[in-house]
Amino acid sequence: MASVGSAVGLGNIWRFPYETGQNGGAAFLIIYLLCVIVMGIPTLMAEMTIGRKTHANSARAFRKMTKHPLFSKVGYLGVLSCLLIMGFYAVVAGWTLEYMWESVSGVMTNLTAEQSEANFRVFSSHPFMPIFWTVLMSIMTHLIILGGVQKGIERASKWMMPMLFVLLIALCINSITLSGASEGLNFLFKPDFSKITSKVVLSAMGQAFFSLSLGAGVMITYASYFDKDVNIPHTATTVALLDTLVALLAGIIIFPAAFSFGITPDKGPNLVFVTLPNIFAQMPWGAVWAFIFFALLALASITSLISLHQVVTAYIAEELKLSNRKAALVVTSMVIVLSIICSLSLGVWNEFKIGGMCVFDLMDYVTAKIMMPLGSLLLCIFLGWKVKKETILKEITNYGTRPWRLANAFVVMLKYVIPILITIIFANELQLF
Ligand code: TRP
Repeated sequence: MASVGSAVGLGNIWRFPYETGQNGGAAFLIIYLLCVIVMGIPTLMAEMTIGRKTHANSARAFRKMTKHPLFSKVGYLGVLSCLLIMGFYAVVAGWTLEYMWESVSGVMTNLTAEQSEANFRVFSSHPFMPIFWTVLMSIMTHLIILGGVQKGIERASKWMMPMLFVLLIALCINSITLSGASEGLNFLFKPDFSKITSKVVLSAMGQAFFSLSLGAGVMITYASYFDKDVNIPHTATTVALLDTLVALLAGIIIFPAAFSFGITPDKGPNLVFVTLPNIFAQMPWGAVWAFIFFALLALASITSLISLHQVVTAYIAEELKLSNRKAALVVTSMVIVLSIICSLSLGVWNEFKIGGMCVFDLMDYVTAKIMMPLGSLLLCIFLGWKVKKETILKEITNYGTRPWRLANAFVVMLKYVIPILITIIFANELQLF
């Protein structure tokens, strides 16, 4: 459940629709699904294998398994990824709090598409408000990690995540019945293969890794707590299925509504935040629906933030020999600084661009499209080539007590298929051929 909590978050409900919208709809979706099946699930199993085998956090897990100068350091890349991801993730998580507030204060009622867009633009580029919410979100995450209320959060997610799920299904039904919904559904499900470019493929791969929390050591850390009788292939597949289902539901909510309200789907990171208020505006009791929805989304982002935070905290506590409290404080301070920079980069610092991207977009791009696939690439090569096949097979079959038909195929995926695919996608984007 905790792994699902890490995987399901803003990646599914905020990032998936905007990436799909920017990358041509259905064609992107098909490649995304292929990436989840061919690369995502095996990599998820690979992380779980390493985590349960070493019972260590991700940085130590690699050092425990090898002395190799490169592979012993793969864990550090993951720690850095987690830190950078939190920088923009906490900003978007903060937006969900603002929208909770707006739904009760009445700002959001009866906005037209243009007004909703203007509302978001004014808010997200404001020099103070988004920072206020972001810092609040970071402090909440900090307190949860310190206060031992994590058990409470876990208990709460056990019923709030299913509730989010039910609410998403209700919103889906609502969206499908909007006038003009079919155009949105066509966009999401009717592929136009001429839209596939190297950028689309890279984005789909990045989204798959991001959404499944891969390539950053999160799943290694979580699996280090797995019992020896946890069925890894089964667990990994369940996490991937639920995660993908939530993303699909988000797509079915957003695209019919966007087309119906005349919002173009290639808007980028603001898509969901501009579209949703319009959906709630035309529903009876819209403000109540909106409040519940954004509260659940805030919770889903907290469970993801906790997973990111813990990877970095565990690493700093161990490396710098600090107590957990002090390490968490160091991490939270860094996250606050990073997220303030990210948030301001959407407003007053928007002129400052690197490679045509503001800092917010750059952090999103670099982590999801470079660091996480790279982390996964190294992880698969390491497990496939540097670890004995018997060791992997033992771990994946629970020492032979749960034989798995595909175990050999899994090793072939790690050794050849995934590394080759990731390399081709990278090389293609860099136009090396
Ligand atoms: N997967 C989460 C989401 O979809 C985000 C997330 C949590 C994550 N932990 C991660 C992304 C580690 C990359 C790496 O919202």
